[in-house]
Order: sequence, then structure tokens, then C-alpha cells
Amino acid sequence: MKLWGGRFERAPSELFERFSESLSFDRRLLEADIRGSQAWARALERAGILTVAERETLVRALEEIAAEARQPGFFDGAADEDVHTLVIRKLREKAGELAGKMHTGRSRNEQVSLDTRLWLRQEIGHHQNRLAALMGSLLALARRYPDAILPGFTHLRRAQAVLWPHYLLAYFEMFFRDWQRLAAARRAAGAMPLGSGALAGSGLPIDRAQIARELGFDELTRNSMDAASDRDFALDFLHAACLAMLHLSRLAEDWILYSSEEFGWLELADEVTSGSSLMPQKKNPDALELVRGKCGRVLGSYVSLVATLKGLPMTYNRDMQEDKERLFDASDTLGACLEMTRAVADSARLNPERTAEAARQSWVVATDLAEALARSGVPFERAHTLVGRLVLESLRSGRRPADWTPEALAAFAPEFAPEMARLLRPEEGLKTREIPGGTGPAAVAAALDEAARRLRELGT
Ligand code: ARG
Repeated sequence: MKLWGGRFERAPSELFERFSESLSFDRRLLEADIRGSQAWARALERAGILTVAERETLVRALEEIAAEARQPGFFDGAADEDVHTLVIRKLREKAGELAGKMHTGRSRNEQVSLDTRLWLRQEIGHHQNRLAALMGSLLALARRYPDAILPGFTHLRRAQAVLWPHYLLAYFEMFFRDWQRLAAARRAAGAMPLGSGALAGSGLPIDRAQIARELGFDELTRNSMDAASDRDFALDFLHAACLAMLHLSRLAEDWILYSSEEFGWLELADEVTSGSSLMPQKKNPDALELVRGKCGRVLGSYVSLVATLKGLPMTYNRDMQEDKERLFDASDTLGACLEMTRAVADSARLNPERTAEAARQSWVVATDLAEALARSGVPFERAHTLVGRLVLESLRSGRRPADWTPEALAAFAPEFAPEMARLLRPEEGLKTREIPGGTGPAAVAAALDEAARRLRELGT
């Protein structure tokens, strides 16, 4: 069945039909298409196009289609151009010629925009819940090792000691921003396009505001041409999805490293790792590697859709059909990666002895010492040089920070006061970083509580 055909003398070729169909993927919009169509039927009744009885028949028949679509095999053998066409065909099977009134004043251009927005708003809600669950898991993993310290890196070189919860809270902040970005993307998809017609606005007295209320939209699209051509809301979502994937991939990379034999900081659970078909000893971090890898895929979807939309003339163009597979794939991938990462976090175990040892072995305390000198009045440049020399001397003589006694330190340079030797232990330097946002134990405890409060306030 087609929703058009009168002006054609010959049918489309099979080649073209196969090339242009979207039912194979836009079937995922069926539920949204039915909700939108039911709202449209009610709008047509209010506009005097349908009688009460006709509207009831159509709304009921659409409800039956929605129920049937939940059964397996519903789409078997369907050869419709797209999901909108399929719904009308099914409606005709149930309601006869009356189905022919459904498209009064309605274009598929606004319909596909409406359906995609409805679908996307629901998907985004699920992603926000998954993100909140992951944030909760990170807080729990932080609280399991409240005093564990590890070397924080810059340039992947040991830089300064930080508390384990402080490290995890960094990811909490990233995911918190992702949650907010998704909320903004959900708002961006929250304008209701029906009534825009194909591009010029409907010629029927449609109460758009009432449709928006029924479908849970926040506002109306303000310009019918913009409504027909706009896919910014799809890009907003893909952008938010990209950044969430970016953060997931960085977390994955960290934990792939930290769980390696070279580090030995983190133990990943058997349930989320896999072995080698050849090497019996292997325990590989495949779950995290896939999360890292799938980031590229979501980024690809974003770039693909931007490239598709770039330079399109006003208003709707069939190119825009290409948005759906990108959206579906990005959304599925993000959802799967959020759930997988959460499972990894829930089952991971830290080895706090190893992380503390990694901190003690290196000169992560150097900055603590330099700042102590600065606090005692030594110009920072001089302090920096002094500690740098201390590090150089230690490397030459094979000494670790803990090997320096207060006396040896004072003998090395008189600026080193005896009490500064305390700072040769990384856990002591931490205590000087109680500034808000710093890794001092009290600051981190407060940050953990504050993060938990913010998570609760997300209300998911
Ligand atoms: N399958 C189309 C899409 O996804 C639906 C809109 C078709 N509109 C049209 N004028 N051909 O974009």
C-alpha cells in the first residue's frame, strides 16, 4: 500500500522500493506513531472532520494495532514504505475506508518528526536512569575504600597522590554533566510539530496546544518550515550520547590499565572478563575494551548525521530518513555501555595496598614538600628547585621518599624544617588539600555526601 499514487502512471520499481523503504528500521517508531495518530484523530474530531463515533472507531483500532505489534511476527511479510504507511494499512484492515480520513491535513514530514521526538524523549529518560544508576555504583565503589590512596597521573606519569573516592568522584562529575546534557536534549525534543503540515502549516483548524498536552510535550514548534526541516534535537541527543560515551571510554581505559598485571590495582570480576582460546592464564578486560571501542561508533553516528544534514535545502528532504538508524544505533550502544560499565563497577575490587605502594614508590610527595617550603616562606621557585634536587639525588642514590630522615633532609638543605619530613608520606600530603574540590580527606568526605545528595535530587 502507498499513501500516494494518483499522479503516477506507473508503479515504483522494485529496486527503488527496496532502496528507499524505511520500515525495516523505523518500525521502532510504531508505538510513537500510534500515540501520535490517536492524538491526531482527536484533533480531527475537534476540527469537525471526524464524528465522535468515527474518532472512537479509529482510536480503538489504533489501540488494537499497538497490542498486535507487541506479538511476535507482526511485521512478517510487511512490505510497506515506512511505519506510517504500515499503520494506515492496518487501520484500513480494521476500520475500512474511514482510515482514509486519518491523513487529513497531516503530512508524514511532521509525523516522522513527532514520532522521532516521542521515541527519543522516552529513550533519553531510560538513559538518564542508567546514568544515575552508574553514578550510584561509583559512589558505592568509592565508599568501599574510603581511605585508599593512589597516584594520580598527568601524562600517564605519577603526579600527586589522591584518595580513591576523589578519583571516582571525577567520573561522577562527568556523568552528572552527561545527565544534565541529556535533560537538555530531552527538552530540545520537547516541541510538538503536528499542525505544521508538509511545510506551510495545516489548512485545518487544529488545536495544536491540546495535542501537545495529550502527548506530554512542553511547547509547540514555532515555525512550520523549521518543524519540517529541523533535526537539531537528534544532533543534541547524539552530542550528549557522544560525550557520555567519551567519558565511559576514558573510564574503561583507566580500568583496563589499572587491572593489568603491571598495575595490579583493580581486580575485575570473572563475570565481566573473558579468557583466551590459546593462552590458559589470560583474563582479559573485553567488556571495558568494547565500551572503549563502541565510543567510536557513537561518535561516527554523530558525524554521519551532521554530514547528512549539512547544506540541505529547506525544508524536508528524504536524506533526513538517514537520521533514524544513527539515532537507534547510538541509543542502543549508549544504553548497553552504561549497563555494562555499571556491572563492571559493581563487581570490581580495589587492591589498596598496591595503589598505596605505587604512591610510596614514586615522588608523588614532591609537590607537598615544595608547598610546605613555600608556606614556611621560601619562594616557590627556590622550593621547586630544592625539591627537584632532592628527587635527583634520590634517583641517583636509589632512595625512596620514606628513606629520608628529618635529619638527612635538613642536612640536604637547611630550608627543610624537621616537621616537613612527615610529608614524605603521601597520606600526609593529602591532608594539606582540604580546599573545596581538593583531595583532602574532609573535603572528599563532604564531596561524597554532596554528590549523594545531588544524585538523590535527580529523582530517578
Ligand atoms: N520515512 C520517511 C523518513 O523517515 C518518512 C517521511 C517521508 N516523507 C516524504 N515526504 N517522503 O523521513
